[in-house]
Amino acid sequence: MGTNQSWGGRFSQGPAQMVADYTDSQTYDRHLYAQDIRASQAHARMLGRQGIISEQEAATLVEGLDKVRQEIEDGRFVWKRELEDVHMNIEARLTELIGDTGKKLHTGRSRNDQVGLTFRLFVADALKTWQNNLAELVEALSAQAEAHQETLLPGLTHLQPAQPVSLAHHLLAYCWMFIRDASRIADCVKRVQTSPLGAAALAGTTYPLDPLSVANDVGFPAIYDNSLDAVSDRDFVVEAHSCAALIIVHLSRLCEECILFANPNFGYLRLPDTYATGSSIMPQKKNPDVCELMRGKSGRIFGHLMGMLTVLKGLPLAYNRDLQEDKEGFLDCHTSICSSLAVMAGFIRELVFVPERMAEACKSGFLNATELADYLVGLGHPFREAHHITGKAVALAESCGLRLEELSLEQLQSLSADINASVYEVLDPACAVRRRETPGGTGPKSVAKQLAKVKVWLTDNKA
Ligand code: ARG
Repeated sequence: MGTNQSWGGRFSQGPAQMVADYTDSQTYDRHLYAQDIRASQAHARMLGRQGIISEQEAATLVEGLDKVRQEIEDGRFVWKRELEDVHMNIEARLTELIGDTGKKLHTGRSRNDQVGLTFRLFVADALKTWQNNLAELVEALSAQAEAHQETLLPGLTHLQPAQPVSLAHHLLAYCWMFIRDASRIADCVKRVQTSPLGAAALAGTTYPLDPLSVANDVGFPAIYDNSLDAVSDRDFVVEAHSCAALIIVHLSRLCEECILFANPNFGYLRLPDTYATGSSIMPQKKNPDVCELMRGKSGRIFGHLMGMLTVLKGLPLAYNRDLQEDKEGFLDCHTSICSSLAVMAGFIRELVFVPERMAEACKSGFLNATELADYLVGLGHPFREAHHITGKAVALAESCGLRLEELSLEQLQSLSADINASVYEVLDPACAVRRRETPGGTGPKSVAKQLAKVKVWLTDNKA
């Protein structure tokens, strides 16, 4: 192979073919072309402002880079493996298009700080997309919540029947998870938006650069404080991966519940035809493959987080080529997170709940046992004693194959003589829900407050 035109001056031979293939990153870092061009244009404008190149040259560079972008977007750009990466592919084409001025673009810059800014721009753009996708999902969940404020289902602990809750309350629990994910991203973005450009290879440069103006030009408020740290820091990638990891944790919890609730033994929801698949052998099947696949995506998302941490572990200062391994995992993470959030939003919008099945399920499992205990406390029994009496009532009902509310007043009075007919009111699941108006509780007024708060969040966060 011939020597590399960007760095081959001191070499008499190019890299072996196998080595060129091994180090090549343009096959995937070409996805960063738009961010690389934005960063280069900002750098060129700054070189012009600072008088390091002429204003005319700066303008020529910016225009030439626009042309390169257009070629890429039209699919006319010819990517060359011997040019290693997106940066050198773009710069080489720029020079072909505008001549020798193209060779001035890299003044006062190294690929080490260049790739840092390019990738930070890419990650920042990705995070904004995630935030929009999260808002879309929160909107879908809250719309279903709004429609199901009166629908009740058994709330579970240990996956066992516990106490009735409203479906709105259940769905809003997921809204808050995704709202926290969005706020975690907002915090992460603050650190992503720090420009390393100006750090050059590792030590800064002798040219009178104005790095802050480049940062501001690309929409970043801040620059690095230390050039060694600037070119080798990939904390921001780890943080973005960990935001992704929690998003997929939350998605996979929601998936698991949809899978479970779609099982006919629960029958709480019907899978939309457009989001379900059939079986090639069992004609009756309607499978929740979409949810299963999304639950399974957790594997790769967690893997990318672990992968990035491992790349960074033990790296000496400053730039090391190991860092090139930051991109493929994040590209895959980005694709997986965007598609998963968008698919889940669509799925939730189309989901049909079956309130009758949920109401039916509220009747079994002694969901109203706590109500009976609280009723006894109201009569003056200490809670522990009320708990014990209620336990006896459950055992009695179970032995007769009855529900608590089906026990006669005499049967109940055999356990505690002061029980009177008003007990049957509190044993109604709707009453149990209605009375839980503590902050963030499942009572309808509390839920309405939650819903209003989610809507305010949506107004502030919907793009
Ligand atoms: N492609 C490299 C990366 O993604 C950037 C180039 C820096 N390479 C170098 N040999 N200094 O990290």
